[in-house]
Amino acid sequence: MPVETITHDVLILGSGIAGLRAAVEIKRQYGEKVDVGIISKLQLMRSHSVSAEGGTAAVLYPQEGDSYALHAWDTIKGSDFLADQEAVWNFVKQMPEEIFLLDHWGLPWNRRPDGRINQRPFGGHSFPRATFAADKTGFYEMQTLYNKLLQYEGWERYDEWFATNIAMENKEYKGLFALNLRDGKLYLFRSKALIIATGGAGRLFNFTTYAHTVTGDGYAMAFRAGMALKDNEFFQFHPTGLVPNGILITEGARGEGGYLLNNKGERFMKKYAPNYMELAPRDVVSRSMWTEILEGRGFVHEQSGLEYILLDLRHIGEDRLNERLPAVREIAIRYIGVDPAEEPIPVRPAAHYSMGGINSNMYSMALDAEGKWIKGVWVAGEAGCMSVHGANRLGTNSTAECLVTGKMSGFLAGKYVLEGAKLPEMPSEDRIKAEEKWIYDEMLKKESGESLYTVRNELRETMGKNFYIYRNEEDMKKGLSKILELRKRMENIYPFDKSRIYNTDLIAAIETQNLLDTALVVAKGALARQESRGAHFRLDFPKRDDENWLKHTIAVRYGEDDVQLTYTPVEVTTWKPVERKY
Ligand code: FUM
Repeated sequence: MPVETITHDVLILGSGIAGLRAAVEIKRQYGEKVDVGIISKLQLMRSHSVSAEGGTAAVLYPQEGDSYALHAWDTIKGSDFLADQEAVWNFVKQMPEEIFLLDHWGLPWNRRPDGRINQRPFGGHSFPRATFAADKTGFYEMQTLYNKLLQYEGWERYDEWFATNIAMENKEYKGLFALNLRDGKLYLFRSKALIIATGGAGRLFNFTTYAHTVTGDGYAMAFRAGMALKDNEFFQFHPTGLVPNGILITEGARGEGGYLLNNKGERFMKKYAPNYMELAPRDVVSRSMWTEILEGRGFVHEQSGLEYILLDLRHIGEDRLNERLPAVREIAIRYIGVDPAEEPIPVRPAAHYSMGGINSNMYSMALDAEGKWIKGVWVAGEAGCMSVHGANRLGTNSTAECLVTGKMSGFLAGKYVLEGAKLPEMPSEDRIKAEEKWIYDEMLKKESGESLYTVRNELRETMGKNFYIYRNEEDMKKGLSKILELRKRMENIYPFDKSRIYNTDLIAAIETQNLLDTALVVAKGALARQESRGAHFRLDFPKRDDENWLKHTIAVRYGEDDVQLTYTPVEVTTWKPVERKY
């Protein structure tokens, strides 16, 4: 039976802040002239973006000393000079308008006493420019964008449709395969333009702030389609994941004045970052915490055995905690029975963000390994890498990037359609058959073998052990051979559930494959990069090496189990790299 097709002008894959912002931009610019389909493996409002807490960076008060130059400099220094500097300028200049648009569309930003929008300090920013709505910023941004989108006609949502692969032939985009989870049927989506906004890959690691659904789907689909990934070895560990479950305790807690304490009761950050203290960038704070733990000045959680550091918010006071950090307080009380108004909270660094992603330029256009645009394809948010975060992202630059790349990709994709873009040809029959075979025969039919959950758990343990804050060649080599072993074992997994209706086992199997593909790219890039930069810290190469490594890693699939790495220069236009001091 031929595969059923569904056609839209623009297809948006992912419904987080980036995907919704792209949809809103298309609608507000082009109305019903451009028809949009939004595909999400979740219900639209359940994307992980709703968990973003602390804020969104933007220069709102130049009259008080902030400036685009300062935001750009903080971002580039924070990136350990791996950011492309023109991309950063373009990004920071677009942000203020995004904050005001969201304000006009109804987002309840926290306010100063005089009614103007409030901002708070965040790590690595030399001006308080984190625009916030209590500690539920992502939730309010999603809600506001969704409400805005509801005002328009000419878009359709595909909630709980799971995209399995991007159909690319001869390096050309042909469409997207997706399963309707309601009946397990495979469809081919066709569109003149595709915006990939699938988020990150936090669930690669065993201790993470990310939802269970964040499984590197976009990276893996791009990898399998022969697209290029950039800088994926740079994975951010957020200093304050709640112990023992990893739930994010926003950096806003430190922005509001919270301290980190070791088991001697010392604010140890004064040793590592005497000027910025707890508000140094995340790579610096996480490494400092981990050093304290490794040197015996941490605590051990009795039930889980996890080591941790204390985050003390008591001095902030109950009233301010309730106003500024209500979610943090509620999370700590509900999940571990600790009221931060009365006791410090146990925290440790948790996998939080992928600085790398699908190769893109500063306008969100997807690029191949040679830097050529893949016609009709854009990437937005964490799925992409337009190189504004380099080797270490600053807090609040992520939701900001989702807004800017969402807007740019939506604007450009809609324009592309209206300028006469044609629907790509159908993928070949062979390609369609291969997809059906992969899902129904290779994944679903198998009657026996290994549990996919064992493979998934071992992968997460491996990543958490061998590719965490401090890396070295020996551990990473061990990690890579484990990943290769797990990739082999993956051929032998079988889903317990054989049904077609909401088969979450089948989805978990494909997600595990997605994690394994992403892991391979992270591992290969990390092993190859013989220096320490930003979040990639190697004990065997502890220095940044600008002479040899001031360059981006470009990774493309090579055969079944290998990755071809090439490198492209970093765009250094305004500031030459200098030593980072905080
Ligand atoms: O700590 C936080 O609220 C996280 C913010 C971010 O990752 O940008």
